[in-house]
Amino acid sequence: TPAALGGLALGYALGSIPFGLIFTRFAGLGDVRAIGSGNIGATNVLRTGRKGLAAATLLGDALKGTAAVLIARQLGGEGPALAAGLGAFLGHLFPVWLGFKGGKGVATFIGVLLAFSPPALAAFAVIWLGLAFALKYSSLAALAASAATPLVLWALGAPTQAVLFLLLGVLLWWKHAPNIRRLAAGTEGRIGQKG
Ligand code: G3P
Repeated sequence: TPAALGGLALGYALGSIPFGLIFTRFAGLGDVRAIGSGNIGATNVLRTGRKGLAAATLLGDALKGTAAVLIARQLGGEGPALAAGLGAFLGHLFPVWLGFKGGKGVATFIGVLLAFSPPALAAFAVIWLGLAFALKYSSLAALAASAATPLVLWALGAPTQAVLFLLLGVLLWWKHAPNIRRLAAGTEGRIGQKG
């Protein structure tokens, strides 16, 4: 439907804003893609040693997803809201401005989830924080929490949202292929290690 396509386009436009790249560049740190994992996300911004910039990146990359869903819901209802969540995630992962080489989606997954189900986000946060503090792998914590999310949404009685987040989760896992390889090899960088 045109409204769903509008939601998708709005989501993509907001989602493709690369906050990590923008914040680190304005802070005079050069290109964040040249350090650590080469990713534009908050985990890699943290490898510059600038915690405030990493937090701002997490917030920006999350809230663009939240905003996309809330705006689309206001204008068109639940269908366009779902499309906007998908669009924001695709925009973050595949931004046309960066030659379609975007981020891995953890922050934007969180932001879109906030707009659909704060209880499911709470479950995500418990899993993420528990694993991140225990094992110090940002990627592993995100992989586990994102895999659990569709099940949590299903259990909460939201099957349509479960399907959306299953799709986002598959894309998130696919973008984490290098991290999964490093985790298996025991060479993944831990939180707090500099790149
Ligand atoms: O947010 C992405 C995180 O899961 C992994 O990031 O930079 O360690 O590849 P990075």
